[in-house]
Amino acid sequence: MDGAMLPKGVPHEEVMAGLTGFTENDVDWKTGKVMTGLYDPGRDAHDLAVEAYTRFLPQNALYVNMYPSIGKLEKDVVSSMAGLLRADDEVVGNMTSGGTESIMMAVKAARDWARENRPGISEPEMVLPVSAHPAFIKAAHYLGLSVRQTGLDLTDYRADITACREALGDNTVLAVGSAPNFSHGSIDPIREMAALAAERDILFHVDGCVGGIYLSVMRRMGEELRDFDFSVPGVTSISVDLHKYGYTPKNASVVLYRNRDLRKHAWFVCSSTTEYVVINPTAQSTRSGGPFAAAWAMLRYLGEEGFQDIVRRSQEATRLMLDGIAAIEGIEVIGEPDMCMFTMASDQVNIFEVDDELGSRGWKMIPQFACGGSPPNLHVSLSQANVPHVDRFVEDLGEVVGRLRSEGSAVNTEELHALVDRVADQPIEVIMGEVIPHIGLSGMDLPEKMAPLNTVLNRLPAEKRDRLLTFFFNMT
Ligand SMILES: Cc1ncc(COP(=O)(O)O)c(C=O)c1O
Repeated sequence: MDGAMLPKGVPHEEVMAGLTGFTENDVDWKTGKVMTGLYDPGRDAHDLAVEAYTRFLPQNALYVNMYPSIGKLEKDVVSSMAGLLRADDEVVGNMTSGGTESIMMAVKAARDWARENRPGISEPEMVLPVSAHPAFIKAAHYLGLSVRQTGLDLTDYRADITACREALGDNTVLAVGSAPNFSHGSIDPIREMAALAAERDILFHVDGCVGGIYLSVMRRMGEELRDFDFSVPGVTSISVDLHKYGYTPKNASVVLYRNRDLRKHAWFVCSSTTEYVVINPTAQSTRSGGPFAAAWAMLRYLGEEGFQDIVRRSQEATRLMLDGIAAIEGIEVIGEPDMCMFTMASDQVNIFEVDDELGSRGWKMIPQFACGGSPPNLHVSLSQANVPHVDRFVEDLGEVVGRLRSEGSAVNTEELHALVDRVADQPIEVIMGEVIPHIGLSGMDLPEKMAPLNTVLNRLPAEKRDRLLTFFFNMT
């Protein structure tokens, strides 16, 4: 393995040139054409975020005694989120590094709350719709819970309430709903689900990671939305990310608990080693003050007016996109998106090819595989940086879908499906060997055209797909 330490340091400019060199093949986030995973607040705000972040870069949130500033920043940010999510004075929370960590902490708190309050449970389990974020499954994996996934109502891609009722059992310690789910952008029937959970003394988490801020701003602007926050009885914890539609730099999220009695189970405190005492409400220990300061700065800088302006423009752009897509033959938005996130599917063209074609024109979206009755699809999370570009996007999408319909596909979907069906029962190494010649993979670099690979992955059963991806990435 190369990469040993340089014998001598190199000058600043050279180091920076080296770093810039690494970004050569990265997506250019400044184009306004990245339609997922990018929450660009615009120039001035971006500069402020960078300044705030770097001002607090050296501060370490682990040492609460040395940097009381971090505690103050955290208190302000948490209280803004609690206010937005209609929490009462009992609600408490903490900042984490992101949605996954917030979810992880809520799951840990629920597991340990149940240990104390429902000691009869020896094999704790979580119930969640198949649209809930993989972070819950990861948390279950790390924390030793089992998971029961429930189906969706395929008319609107919200959690199926009957399936949820049937899945809640004697061992369920936590049930989950999303506001909205990432895949389809729709809010689950939180009120009904939380009531079902409460009837059985089961805690209920709302994943507001992606939508907690945006939807709350929409509600405050007078939009009629399903309730999903602490105003709903039975909701016991909520995760809400600042580094998504809070437009703050990564890594910033908040996890809120209904009361201290629940949050006390999130803490990890340890004074039984020769080392310093660790007191963590999060999975991370040492944490830079950067995300705290940048989140605080952005909330203040934008204010409610700033957020409403972003939401208004983003919603207008979303409506334009939805109308534009509805007019294109051969592709449709599936479900009932509640905010500026949605997904498109096609029964006429290979959706992964649409992704490749639009990708080569600079549009970056995220493909999602078929699951629980949802067909393979192409996800868009609109951000305010995309707003000026939506007409062009719809035009390009129309052209690409039209051409694929008239000229046919370069990917032989049926043949790839037949291949996968033939080898799916084989060991992973055999599957890899069989599919590699058909998916444009050479070495460890992902192919430029991903459609054949995605077609193959989409066809594999999820469990096999996970193992194949583990195998592949473990080779890197
Ligand atoms: C609904 C939802 N929950 C949780 C997460 C995980 O958040 P993170 O990537 O910040 O860990 C995401 C990320 O997209 C999400 O959309």
